[in-house]
Amino acid sequence: MVVRPANRIQRLPDQLFAHLVQAVEDKRQQGIDVINLGQGNPDQPTPAHIVESLKAAAENPRYHRYISFRGLVALKEAVARWYWERYAVTLDPQSEIAILIGSKIGIEELSLALINPGEGVLVPDPGYPDYLSGIYLAGGTLHSWPLLEENHFLPPLDHWPDNTRLAFVNFPNNPTGRMAPAAYFDQLIDRALSRHVLLAHDLAYGDITFDGRQAVSLLARPGGKEAGVEFTTLSKSYNMAGWRIGFAAGHPDVIRYLELLQDHLHCSQWGAIQEAAIAALTGPQESVQALCRTYQSRRDAFLAEARRAGWDIPPSEGSIFIWCPVPRTRPSLEWAHLFLSEAEVMVAPGSAFGMHGEGYVRVALTEPADRLVEAARRLARIIQREAAASHAG
Ligand SMILES: Cc1ncc(COP(=O)(O)O)c(C=O)c1O
Repeated sequence: MVVRPANRIQRLPDQLFAHLVQAVEDKRQQGIDVINLGQGNPDQPTPAHIVESLKAAAENPRYHRYISFRGLVALKEAVARWYWERYAVTLDPQSEIAILIGSKIGIEELSLALINPGEGVLVPDPGYPDYLSGIYLAGGTLHSWPLLEENHFLPPLDHWPDNTRLAFVNFPNNPTGRMAPAAYFDQLIDRALSRHVLLAHDLAYGDITFDGRQAVSLLARPGGKEAGVEFTTLSKSYNMAGWRIGFAAGHPDVIRYLELLQDHLHCSQWGAIQEAAIAALTGPQESVQALCRTYQSRRDAFLAEARRAGWDIPPSEGSIFIWCPVPRTRPSLEWAHLFLSEAEVMVAPGSAFGMHGEGYVRVALTEPADRLVEAARRLARIIQREAAASHAG
């Protein structure tokens, strides 16, 4: 029997750099020590007090049974407290916060909960690819919101196609590493409200900011809660990517629709993980500051070595990425393959994040500084060689 997928599955594109990931695997099988800067997968362990909390909670028979579909009230209260302490935002835990099994699934559920076939969604280009997945599944129409260097990598505020119902933004940004000032958020909220477009701000890297910068919460700006929702995750701040826990907060109608959809799709995350998330949010935060310093020093090490070798890259303002310009003599996917085959360094091609990602590769700061320096040296050498060749040609 030939099995035919539903139309919605056929709309899902293949992972653009799946074959690059396979090439890394092949090299590793041959015993080659690839420096993997391709994926945004934090390399540090989860802080010990959070792991201890999980261990204790795993013994609690309460969490061996199904728990409430909508998660632990105590966790929602901890999120509300965290929002107050971190961003001076007040939230009602019951009506303005939803618990997510990682923010990735929540982001996809948002489109499923709100978007009808043919309705438009604005998505940063380049941007985190999973915004697209939910839109494709919902049958929505994708509108690219170009992030260009000449606009400081901010989505242009005069670009609102007619049928747009939802717009994603993400600061600190994956992949560009750029942040938006509070004044930008204020204009964005103003424009979105006047056009009845819901904003979804992805604050995945809100704790990872450099050179003394502070991330802006959409919900902290005037009108922000009225205009949309914000997604946060414990994956990056507490090195809990494998644990799968995050939150949506903001407009109560959106939270209600998200929770209704979740009631039908799954039970809440395992209670013991939710207990550990409470420990993360309410416990000591020194590990978060230390993590931020680690990423900043890795960024500095990579950039300094690249600059020394003649490759000038603007510094990221936040996130765990560096957005590196590469000569347009070849497509970014080809650059990524060349870097892997010649330098044994994996980076993500800019085109994996949208057509406006062309001309860049993304480096993840997920290896120790000495390996990042080695990677910068090897990549810069290849770029210099290409530049010299194209000059001579
Ligand atoms: C911008 C952005 N948003 C959301 C996520 C999803 O995070 P998680 O599903 O682990 O909460 C990621 C993960 O890499 C990301 O880069």
